[in-house]
Amino acid sequence: MSFISPSMLQASTAGPATRAGGGGDDQGAREDVDVESPVNARWTDAQVAEVSEEPFYLPVRDEVTVFEAAYARRLPVMLKGPTGAGKTRFLRYMAWRLGRPLVTVACHDDLTASDLLGRYLTGGETVWIDGPLTHAVRIGAICYLDEIVEARKDTTVVIHPLTDDRRRLRLEKTGELLVAPPEFMLVISYNPGYQSLTKNLKPSTRQRFVAIDFDFPPPGLEVEIVAHESGVDRETARRLVQLGGLIRNLRDAGLDEPASTRLLVYAGLLIHSGIAPRRACELAIAAPISDDPAVREAVLDLVATVFPE
Ligand SMILES: Nc1ncnc2c1ncn2[C@@H]1O[C@H](COP(=O)(O)OP(=O)(O)OP(=O)(O)O)[C@@H](O)[C@H]1O
Ligand SMILES: [Mg+2]
Repeated sequence: MSFISPSMLQASTAGPATRAGGGGDDQGAREDVDVESPVNARWTDAQVAEVSEEPFYLPVRDEVTVFEAAYARRLPVMLKGPTGAGKTRFLRYMAWRLGRPLVTVACHDDLTASDLLGRYLTGGETVWIDGPLTHAVRIGAICYLDEIVEARKDTTVVIHPLTDDRRRLRLEKTGELLVAPPEFMLVISYNPGYQSLTKNLKPSTRQRFVAIDFDFPPPGLEVEIVAHESGVDRETARRLVQLGGLIRNLRDAGLDEPASTRLLVYAGLLIHSGIAPRRACELAIAAPISDDPAVREAVLDLVATVFPE
């Protein structure tokens, strides 16, 4: 098979620049991903990471044991939960624990089955380029289809045969039938809060996965996470988590998604960089979570109670 250089491919594909963090902006992810590597340069919306250093992850329930059992029994897994609740971080941690490469695809509404499987590229010589799913099957990686519900419907046709006990991937265009090695695992993420009637996973797709629920960690753990990730002291982390809890109680007040652990970490990072706590919370929490002036005002009132000074 001929090999194609990154520059040839970049010239032949349009679309957003390669993202280094999957669906969420997982800060540590960038360290593992060599975006200049030939294989990563093949794709615009996917990347392969070798997670060589243990990512910081605090287990919330039994998700680590459940994931390991699913991996051992070759069951595909669905990570279900709101934005910023730790799905991407968890998966990087599991990839490290299991010693498998992690192929992440950031799904979007233009993503087709061919983007996952691969395609022939013409230009002088015709060469076949594996897509990220095919690559993951070949190397026995964990393949993470982040927000799969966003992708075109033809992608589900491709993943179904991979999720039953045949674990097969058919490449119509090359005539190959790949059987996934035992190390291959398919993982999808799904945020029930975003879904509309037109964009939902069909029962026949959902019922092929073991679903692990993610929600925000209990306060004690969340304080540890915010302190570790942002560098603020425990007392500041405790107040940020308290604020998060108060905002989450406003859930019915017109917020699509409550303040995530990620936003509490962002506020902590700003505070750690010298921004006054109230202003940091306004920038990192109140403004991102809502455009509604009344909701924003309510959030700022909560900020003032938690950071009175
Ligand atoms: N249990 C946890 N242990 C350690 N860090 C965590 C944990 N949960 C959340 N975090 C922190 O929250 C941040 C956001 O988490 P992450 O990016 O994994 O969210 P996500 O669920 O993938 O969100 P999205 O759906 O938007 O992609 C992480 O970068 C990390 O700092
Ligand atoms: Mg994510």
